[in-house]
Amino acid sequence: MRIDIITAVPELLHSPLNTSILKRAQDKQLAEIYVHDLREFGKGKYRQIDDYQFGGGAGMVLMPEPLGQMIEKLIASTTYDEIVFMTPDGKTLSQETSNQFSLKKNFLFICGHYKGIDERIREKYVTQEISIGDYVLTGGELPACIVIDSIVRLIPGVLNNETSALSDSFQDDLLSPPVYTRPRTWKGMDVPEVLTSGNFKKIDEWRSNKSQERTEERRPDLLKKK
Ligand code: ADE
Repeated sequence: MRIDIITAVPELLHSPLNTSILKRAQDKQLAEIYVHDLREFGKGKYRQIDDYQFGGGAGMVLMPEPLGQMIEKLIASTTYDEIVFMTPDGKTLSQETSNQFSLKKNFLFICGHYKGIDERIREKYVTQEISIGDYVLTGGELPACIVIDSIVRLIPGVLNNETSALSDSFQDDLLSPPVYTRPRTWKGMDVPEVLTSGNFKKIDEWRSNKSQERTEERRPDLLKKK
């Protein structure tokens, strides 16, 4: 998978994309991730990339020329399966969308900053508009990292134990059961006995019951969906 990201603040992306599982995915050459600084195409001496909005109103808007030029440069050498714009008015990210994205090859992510991007860029190039939830952040960079993390970890070979992605919460519209590790007793609290019994049929049953219970308690809406 190849992922290109256009941003006005590349610093925000470096650490999340180059640490832990996302780093491992790149080291194993299962994902290539490139961050592009929009200021490269900024206008004039001050490399301007944003301007006031027509019609008045608070907040700056990313201008169509620098962003358009950078998109044109990238699409000239890569065919993208999706050009994704991160925006609070997009479709809310779900596990289902991440699963579908993880099967595709090339992505271009556009991160808005300030008030957003000129609407004409959305009309001309964007194929998917994604929100990570009903709240507004200062830009699309952290949301893009969230989407990228959720899709890259699904690429076969990225996680050590592939079943661990299949048993995630939401994969089956169920929340995950509780998990425990050593020591068996901590501050007077014991690990449920069944988990140390070695009886894998019983362990599976226990996990499945706990998943069901937890989903009923915390997210009954997921059970209605099923
Ligand atoms: N940019 C700002 N807020 C956002 C959100 N909730 N989702 C995606 N992109 C955003």
